[in-house]
Amino acid sequence: MGIRVGAVPFTVVSHVLAIAASFLVLVWCIHYRGGLAFEATNKSLIFNIHPVLMLIGFIILGGEAIISYKAFPLSKEVKKVVHLTLHFFALILGIVGVYAAFKYHNESSIANLYSLHSWIGIGVICLYGIQWIFGFVLFFYPGGVAAVRAESLPWHVFFGLFVHILAIATAILGFLEKLTFLETGGLSKYGSEAFLVNFTAIVTVLFGGFIVLTAVSPAPVADDFSYSAI
Ligand code: HEM
Ligand code: HEM
Repeated sequence: MGIRVGAVPFTVVSHVLAIAASFLVLVWCIHYRGGLAFEATNKSLIFNIHPVLMLIGFIILGGEAIISYKAFPLSKEVKKVVHLTLHFFALILGIVGVYAAFKYHNESSIANLYSLHSWIGIGVICLYGIQWIFGFVLFFYPGGVAAVRAESLPWHVFFGLFVHILAIATAILGFLEKLTFLETGGLSKYGSEAFLVNFTAIVTVLFGGFIVLTAVSPAPVADDFSYSAI
């Protein structure tokens, strides 16, 4: 791609959007929806763990993992470990977040996996897991030979960005799913809560946009970002 502006300013915007989205989803789930709990008689509190972990744990941590190559002036080896570790925690928190949605459904006698959101959501988690295993085996341990690594890297970058964008799309479907559900329970489409949820979704989309923009922009130290150093 022909983006010539250095990535650093985009990493800063990404961090700011990450903080804004985290704040908004917490205000929504704690102030408007009554808080978070793994065990509760009010089953909605179990559900509330889902958007919080999916947004902050899975999407935001995963996005930070992607831009970790551009955000810090560290050695290639250290950046690799930061990248794979942040992705690992994003995957674990994503799995716990999905578990919370299933737990809520099961304890409330609601069917599982009936929506497009849930189908794409399962797909995203599986693809993310596969991407992590491939990335680890190829680039970390035991590591492919240099030619294979160089050949695979563009595919790794493509699938990594694809799965991140798909995660953002899944979150948007999830916000919509919840709003529609709440509307049938009497929430107004025009109230402050609906406004907050739409706004959170927009900030999430912007976050995804800046993560991709960061990834396609040149790293601060030009010679550190070459295929020969993979
Ligand atoms: C990438 C992030 C996300 C993934 C991978 C994901 C995945 C899933 C999965 C697999 C289910 C099905 C649970 C079951 O069938 O028992 C589910 C349910 C649900 N999720 Fe998400 N989710 C994500 C983000 C969100 C967000 C941000 C919201 C916002 C509120 C949300 C709202 C919902 C709702 C309302 C349900 C219950 C209805 C349904 O099954 O569609 N999700 N999610
Ligand atoms: C689900 C997990 C993962 C996702 C979504 C992902 C995504 C990405 C993305 C989007 C990039 C491009 C970053 C940029 O160009 O600025 C990238 C680069 C890279 N990733 Fe991953 N990755 C994952 C896991 C891993 C793992 C486990 C490793 C193992 C070490 C790894 C090694 C690398 C390497 C070596 C680069 C190249 C950085 C460079 O060219 O300087 N990735 N990854």
